[in-house]
Formats: sequence, structure tokens, C-alpha cells
Amino acid sequence: MAIIQSAKCKSQNDNVKCKIEKIKKITMQKILITGGAGFIGSNFVHFWVKKHPQDKIVVLDALTYAGDTDNIKGVLKKIEFVKGDICNRKLVNDLLKNIDIVVHFAAESHNTRAEKHPEIFYKTNVKGTRTLLEAATKTKLSKFIHISSDEIYGSIKNGFFKENDADRRFRYLKSDYPKSKAQADKLAREYAKKGVPVIVVRPTNNFGPRQHPEKALPRYITNVFLGKKMPVWGRGLQVRDWLYVEDCCRAIELLIKKGKIGQAYNIAANNKPEIRNRDVAEILCQAMKIDPKDWIEFVPDPRPQHDFRYGLSAQKIKRLGWRPSKDIKKLFAQTVAWYRQNPAWWKKLKAEAEKIYNK
Ligand SMILES: NC(=O)c1ccc[n+]([C@@H]2O[C@H](COP(=O)([O-])OP(=O)(O)OC[C@H]3O[C@@H](n4cnc5c(N)ncnc54)[C@H](O)[C@@H]3O)[C@@H](O)[C@H]2O)c1
Repeated sequence: MAIIQSAKCKSQNDNVKCKIEKIKKITMQKILITGGAGFIGSNFVHFWVKKHPQDKIVVLDALTYAGDTDNIKGVLKKIEFVKGDICNRKLVNDLLKNIDIVVHFAAESHNTRAEKHPEIFYKTNVKGTRTLLEAATKTKLSKFIHISSDEIYGSIKNGFFKENDADRRFRYLKSDYPKSKAQADKLAREYAKKGVPVIVVRPTNNFGPRQHPEKALPRYITNVFLGKKMPVWGRGLQVRDWLYVEDCCRAIELLIKKGKIGQAYNIAANNKPEIRNRDVAEILCQAMKIDPKDWIEFVPDPRPQHDFRYGLSAQKIKRLGWRPSKDIKKLFAQTVAWYRQNPAWWKKLKAEAEKIYNK
């Protein structure tokens, strides 16, 4: 964010005329991005470097199975990368000393993994978030953007949750991923009351480049590239509100500029018509020019109790001027193209990603 300032130059000696000139003074901001080597985080790093080249970015990432510096290799020379855990209090305290803005993505993010190792989810998502927030009480940040999730509301049959619905929904949450994210979300809002300039962001299902092939959409795409069918759970009727990752980055940028401290904001595509999981598979088949009958396989739902539909109202962020992209089919096709062009990226992750589904 550049601020243009003008200044009067005084002459240093008698022979030099005093000049008045406008000086463009760039006020550089220092941004700490946690989880910047993961899916949304890396997209945000690329987005920010491109749009705000004067800013200094520090990425803090533990490089778990979900993080890879390959995801930010194009911009590594322009940023500072720190490998480390958000639960490491000393590291976090030191890093936050000269930071203006924190954008906190780091998390354990996959429901299927939460079934086997819930403890890691509470450690990273709750304790890690608390460590960052606590460190933030000792600094002079201008914003602490906490990335929460649509899953903290749980399922809704019809209609859309508003931001104020969050806390009353906690008792309906079924898995440890949303439970840990909901605890972190609440914690972040509590620290806002302690003076940390928190804004909570609740995006719906993101998709786009560099999403781990353990997640449904890239799993479907990469299966086909390997000659395997897309495994759609149950009858594929569950509804997710697919949001393009760059739209999510634009929303976060807007909230850094215009978001109100202490507030939460939903970021939702509000796809019309709504997209069921079987529609996702069919749209991808269209993009890959293959016959859904040959490539979609309906498999027993390993989690029949899983949330059926997520629905969030995006009115609040829309009032600030944000709009999601409209052409979801084109964005799905663009995502297919990215995976087609980057086989080395996903092939190294695929075997481990599939292991978690083989019980
Ligand atoms: N992907 C989605 O559709 C979606 C939707 C809503 C909200 N979110 C939220 O957005 C954020 C990013 O999601 P994502 O899909 O990019 O996740 P991801 O799993 O792709 O990336 C997580 C990143 O965090 C890092 N990390 C994990 N534990 C860490 C720790 N203890 N210390 C430091 N770094 C650590 C990982 O190495 C990885 O780079 C998460 O907070 C997630 O809950 C994601």
C-alpha cells in the first residue's frame, strides 16, 4: 500500500537553490503470512507480491505434509521464509516484533486426517492461534487477519448463516477440524477485546492451483490423469459453495483495507445453481472432455453423518464492494489445466494422499 507524501527540501549550502519537490515515499508494510507454503497461503503470497511489490513479506510455515516451498518458489527471492511452528512461543514473539499485519492461514485442514489424529488439530489450530494472538498483544500490529472457515457453522439444510450465528452453532459441530477451527475463531474474537486488531475471515470451500490432492476436487482431477475413476461419496448430493482461491485472496485484501476490527466476515461464492459433489465431478468431466458414465464412480460414503450443505451469507463483505467471479465452469477448467500442466507437483503427493482413504 503506497502512500504518496510530499516534502520540502531545504538547501544544504548557499550555492544550492532550495528546491521543492514532490517525493514519492513508499511506506512499506511488513506482513507475516503463516501457512504461506500451503494451498490458500501460497496463492495469497503470490497475489500479494504481485499487487504490493513494495511490501515485505515474511512467511512462517512448519512445512508439514501440506506445505512446500515449491509452492512459493517463483517468489522466494522476494520474501523471507522462516521454517517454524506457530506453537513456538519464542519464535513467534521474535517474528512479530516488527510486523504490521499478520495473515494467519496455518492450520491442519483436512477432515479425514482429523479422524485419525485429532490432537494435532487442537495443537496447531487452537494452541498455535493462541500463541500468535498472545504475541500480538505485545506488538503494535495494524491488523491480525485470522482465517477461519465456513465449517464453524456446520450444516444448514436451506438458507444461509450470518456472521452472528457462529457461537450458537458450536454444539452442532461433528468433527475435530470444525471444532478446533471454531475454538480458534472464538479465541481470535476474544483477543480483539484485549486490543489485538483482529478481523475474522470465514471462507467457503476454496479451489484452484496448488491444492493438495487429498482434497476432493484435485483428487478427482488427478485420479483421471492416472486413469482412475472419480470416487464420489454416497450419491454425491452434498453441497459445497466453491470459491475460487484468487477471489478469496481479493476478499482478504479488501478486509485488510476496509474490514472493521473485532468483526467477522463470511466469504462465499453463493454459487447459483448450487453445486453438489456429483455436479463437481460432472463439470470436471466436461472440462476434460470425458464421459461421466465412464469416469464417475459412486462409492459408499465413509462419513454418512458428514455435513450435508454449507450456506453462508456474503452480504456483509459485499457491502464493502467484494464480488466473487461468476463463471465457475471456466474456473474449474482453468484448475484442470493447472493440474495438467504441473504433473510433477501433484504426483509426488498423490500416493500419500490416497493412503489416508485406505483404511
Ligand atoms: N481450503 C479450503 O477450502 C478452506 C476453506 C475455508 C477455510 N480454510 C482455512 O484456510 C487456511 C488455509 O487452508 P489451506 O487449505 O491452504 O490449508 P493447507 O493444509 O493447504 O495449508 C496449511 C499450511 O499450514 C502449515 N502448517 C500446518 N501446521 C503448522 C504449524 N504448526 N506451524 C506453522 N505452519 C503450519 C502447513 O505446512 C501448510 O503450509 C486454514 O486455516 C483453513 O482452515 C480453508
